[in-house]
Amino acid sequence: MTEISLYRERRERLARRLGRGVAVVPTAPERLRNRDTAYPYRYDSYFYYLTGFTEPEAVLVLVAGDAPRSILFCREKDPEKEVWDGFRYGPEGAREAFGFEEAHAIGGLDAAMEEILADRPVLFYPLGQDPAWDARVVSWVNAVRAKARSGVTAPTELKDVRALLDEMRLVKDAHELSLMRRAARISAAAHRRAMGFVRPGLSEYQVEAELLHEFRRQGAQAPAYPPIVAGGANACVLHYVSNRATLRDGELLLIDAGCEFDGYASDITRTFPVNGRFSSAQRDVYQLVLAAQAAAIAAVQPGNRWDAPHRAALEVLAQGLIDLRLLTGSRDEVLEKEAYRRFYMHRTGHWLGLDVHDAGSYKQDGEWRLLVPGMTLTVEPGCYIRPAEDVPQAFWNIGVRIEDDVVVTAEGCEVLTQDAPKSVAEIEALMARPAAA
Ligand code: GLY
Ligand code: MN
Ligand code: MN
Repeated sequence: MTEISLYRERRERLARRLGRGVAVVPTAPERLRNRDTAYPYRYDSYFYYLTGFTEPEAVLVLVAGDAPRSILFCREKDPEKEVWDGFRYGPEGAREAFGFEEAHAIGGLDAAMEEILADRPVLFYPLGQDPAWDARVVSWVNAVRAKARSGVTAPTELKDVRALLDEMRLVKDAHELSLMRRAARISAAAHRRAMGFVRPGLSEYQVEAELLHEFRRQGAQAPAYPPIVAGGANACVLHYVSNRATLRDGELLLIDAGCEFDGYASDITRTFPVNGRFSSAQRDVYQLVLAAQAAAIAAVQPGNRWDAPHRAALEVLAQGLIDLRLLTGSRDEVLEKEAYRRFYMHRTGHWLGLDVHDAGSYKQDGEWRLLVPGMTLTVEPGCYIRPAEDVPQAFWNIGVRIEDDVVVTAEGCEVLTQDAPKSVAEIEALMARPAAA
């Protein structure tokens, strides 16, 4: 399947779910970072999923029917602006290159919608995502309603198109999986690079620079989220992103970093000793989290429910925390009372795809949903031990998380990020350097 037919097939699949309705999916706006300087542009994931089109100021209109019509509204060609900002397709170029039935200048959207929405019962769009779009959509509906005496009827229902697209995006196709494998491989290489680079005395931001260098060197367009490079106690701050502390001998370093490749995210966490050798307490906690992750990955199987990996990880962690004398009571009590939450306060994963926390519901009809082949998720148990009187000092400030990206297969799952080392032996071997002469 060529890429054009792939996006066309997605639009047709969506059109079949619209009844006699119309869907409108705008791309993301450009955003200013300060004064007249914009953030690097990132298109909207839903829009991109349906079009493959990456220019700003674009809107897809999908008109359902026996022969559904995809209409793109986009920027016109502008030789003068293209001198400053680069190539733009223009409607005719975009129509040909991306396989839309029609394409028009973005300036004509409002007038066109008043025609397109006549006698259409439902309008689907990202309801509530942006107040400006909510107002604009209502203005179209009112404009159609104002023509009632000419015999046209206006849509009487506004629905959230994301509910339909979330279900489609949840199960990845072969093209998406090939991009996700590529993103995962690049991120794994970045983690290997970081492990080979780290030593006491470096700063967290110097390690971050190595990660970003590897992402970009291998063609990834951007990090999928701000990298977390957290030495020592910083690893116990779950969303630590300042990355400016100095790495000290004897501490662990937690790195949560992944790139985005052609729109698809990867999301890897590795934790390793700054000096290349785990202390005894660090090793104990690390092995526990690794065992919890192995149990969770084993639970990623078609037919299991979404929470099976989380429950598998919790069982291992609860018992391990008791064995390390960090918690008391039986495993069942620790699970029942959620006593583990003191050391493990997040869940074990999330959907992964065009967004790092990807689209898709986690429950269906009140039950955790069943895993099916093509669903892609992270598996990321952790253990975070803050200083406390009832905790032996050897464990203070040990924060460990191990995160991989997996896709559900017919037999179980495929780990996309396996090139990032995670056994104690692999990590210590990679970090071992010849002794200074
Ligand atoms: N890096 C974001 C997450 O792990 O969920
Ligand atoms: Mn994650
Ligand atoms: Mn992560």
